[in-house]
Amino acid sequence: MKRPNFIAEQARNARGPVGRIVAFIMARETWAQNQRSMAALDVRNGETVVDVGCGHGRSLAALSEMTPDGLVVGVDPSELMAEIAARRVRSLIRAGRADVAVASVEKLPFVDGSFDKALCVHVLYFWPDLGPALAEIARVLKLGGRLALLFRTSASPATASFPPEIYRFRSLGEVTAALADAGLEVQETTDIGDCVLFTAERRRATA
Ligand SMILES: C[S@@+](CC[C@H](N)C(=O)[O-])C[C@H]1O[C@@H](n2cnc3c(N)ncnc32)[C@H](O)[C@@H]1O
Repeated sequence: MKRPNFIAEQARNARGPVGRIVAFIMARETWAQNQRSMAALDVRNGETVVDVGCGHGRSLAALSEMTPDGLVVGVDPSELMAEIAARRVRSLIRAGRADVAVASVEKLPFVDGSFDKALCVHVLYFWPDLGPALAEIARVLKLGGRLALLFRTSASPATASFPPEIYRFRSLGEVTAALADAGLEVQETTDIGDCVLFTAERRRATA
């Protein structure tokens, strides 16, 4: 059954009481995939990590446990999601171990080479263009820094239940090419259910 547009729209830009419910459900629905993606990042203590499209922020707390002396930052353009995420990790924010920013992938509020690792789970459907988004993630990663990018490809039958006006599913080839263009070299491609997890490393300075 197709998700109604008003629910799908909340996944792209959560607002109001319905947005809070969607955030609550999403934190459970995507948890196993986030755990797999975080494991692939191999976060070491002292490292800095950004979660692009962090949503409800459940992964921020788990990432912070992997790098208690480092910094974990969540970014999301939805003010409601950023508020929920910041509340979830408020004690870490007070301790200077976490932060949450309202921002979109196209313009990340960080200087070049800020992060050792970047997590991005179920977010790229909402990007009009992959190129500028991945270039911006590459820019904020250090050289040799790693991205874990999880998404459902256009080949998945499950995509039929998401409205195409809101979700844009890409082929494996399309994402592979866009990663290469952004200077992100794919290290591993793993099937997780009907999703794909890419781990890629920044290999060159971006333009
Ligand atoms: C399906 S949710 C996934 C949230 C979380 N990563 C997870 O795995 O549960 C998609 C998230 O991407 C965010 N988002 C939408 N457009 C975005 C953009 N252009 N840049 C960054 N995040 C975006 C949404 O606000 C939402 O929180």
